[in-house]
Parts: sequence; C-alpha cells; structure tokens
Amino acid sequence: MHELNSICVSSFVKNNRSMVSTYSKLTIAFLVVLLIFSACKHEPLVTINGNNGGGNGNGNGNNSLPPCDPDSVYFEQDILPLFTSNCNMSGCHNSASHASGIDLSSYAAVMNSNVVTPGQSNNSNLVDVITTSNPGDIMPPPPMTAMPTVQIQLIKKWINQGALDLHCDNGCDTTNVTYTATIKPILQNYCLGCHNATSSGGGYNLTNYADDVNGNLGVQSSALNGSLSGSVHYTGTWSHMPKGGSQLPACELTKIRIWVDSGAPNN
Ligand code: HEC
Repeated sequence: MHELNSICVSSFVKNNRSMVSTYSKLTIAFLVVLLIFSACKHEPLVTINGNNGGGNGNGNGNNSLPPCDPDSVYFEQDILPLFTSNCNMSGCHNSASHASGIDLSSYAAVMNSNVVTPGQSNNSNLVDVITTSNPGDIMPPPPMTAMPTVQIQLIKKWINQGALDLHCDNGCDTTNVTYTATIKPILQNYCLGCHNATSSGGGYNLTNYADDVNGNLGVQSSALNGSLSGSVHYTGTWSHMPKGGSQLPACELTKIRIWVDSGAPNN
C-alpha cells in the first residue's frame, strides 16, 4: 500500500493542473446548484412516512423508510461503497487525505468537494475523471484498474437523478444465498477496488472463488481461513473491512455469515 499511496499522491499532483482548468466551469456549476438547492429549500426531497404534517399518526411506521425502488439510486447503499472501494484508500480521497481537496467518504463530503453537478453527469468532474482515456488523468490512477462500466453507469444515474441522499428499506432476503448471486456482488461493490489482481491488499484477490496465479488468496480461501467473516464482522484480530469505510449493512453481514457457515460453496 505504501507504494500505491505514493503513486496516488504523485498522480494527483499532476492532475491538479487539469483540475484548475475546469475550475471556473465548476464554480459556475456550483452556483447553479446553490440556486437550485436554495429554491427547493422548503420542499422535503423524501417523504419518510407519506404523512405530511398529520398530527394523529401515533401508530406504527412513523420511522419506517419507503421500500427501495429498483429504478432509484440510493447514495449510501449503492454509491458510497464504490467510493470506499475505489477512492477512499489512505493517501487518496478519504477524510484524512482528501487529495486535491476531494473527500469522498460521506454524502456531505462528496457534495462539498464540488465534483458533482446534480442532474448533469456530463458536466460532473467526477464522471470525467473515471471515464477519461487519458492515463495521466484517470481515476483511480494506474496501476489501479478503471472502475467497471456498471459502476460508472450507476454513478451517472445517481447524478442524473439529482445526486440525492435517498434512503429506503430493502428488506433483507436471506433465502437462497449463493456465491454467484449474493456474495460476488457484495464483494464487487465493497471490496474489489482494493482486492484485485493489481492491488491485492494483505495478499487477497477477491475477484474469483479460487486463489490467483500469484498466490493471492481468493474468496474460498478467505472464507475457510476465517478472515472473510472475521474482517467484515469485526471479530477476532482480523483487520476491519472494508478498510477505512463503515461496517457493511446488517443484511450483507447476515448473508456472508450464512454462506460461510454453509461451507462457502461455489454455487
Ligand atoms: C480501501 C481498500 C480496501 C477495501 C475497500 C477493502 N480492503 Fe480488505 N484489505 C485492504 C488492505 C490494504 C489490507 C491489508 C492490510 C490490512 O490488513 O489492513 C486488507 C486486508 C484484508 C484481509 C486480511 C485481513 C487480515 O487481518 O489479515 C481480508 C480478509 C480482507 N481485507 C477482506 C476484505 C473484504 C471482504 C472487503 C470488502 C467487504 C475488503 N477487504 C475491502 C484494503 C481494503
């Protein structure tokens, strides 16, 4: 990671110049955003219980969230994990390092970093740097791998939907937990940015079920040696994962425990 840190930092220094050139554009965009936000100040973006101002709602459900809408993007569960895994490592864009003044460790930090123009993914610096083909500008910087297209599309969709901080209740379906349908997507969202063929934190490459050709442990080995469960549940002496991020949601933790307890099958 030390080597990676210095690469991150030096490449951010290089990036500073191109960031300055887009600065005035960003300032204008920021003012527009401010205007939009102040114009909408009195309209709640989310109605938590669908009961605006009702005084007699003393029944259940006042604090319940709306069910998740499959067409909406939810910052905390969909987007933040991607930033944690791809951008928040030490030396990069976490709250301690915030290279180039950019901190992607929370919703407030992201919005204050002025890299997102709500409603306009085409006019968002964040999208520019994760999609550029210029090796000197791309984020995450080499030797890290570019973000997968599905993740880039999701970030664009979130911005185009207004870059909101929506919350929802996705239930927690723990029936039919399998490696392919359940565990792999969790690892993809929360872990692979730091545990792939080029950055294999701690000697773990969690891209595949099997160990890789360089001897990095894969998903099966990490399940069987106890580190996968231990690191995400914060048990034993395992390092806490995702490193530098918050603990996985309870539902994801339960699914991982169920799968590991059933022998971590390749199903
Ligand atoms: C921001 C980068 C980052 C993310 C995201 C991340 N890891 Fe790690 N991980 C590391 C680094 C670096 C190490 C090795 C150093 C250490 O243990 O802190 C490591 C070590 C580990 C280890 C070995 C722990 C030990 O104590 O030996 C396991 C297992 C692991 N990670 C699993 C995961 C899982 C599962 C996720 C996703 C839920 C994840 N990591 C997300 C960077 C990360």
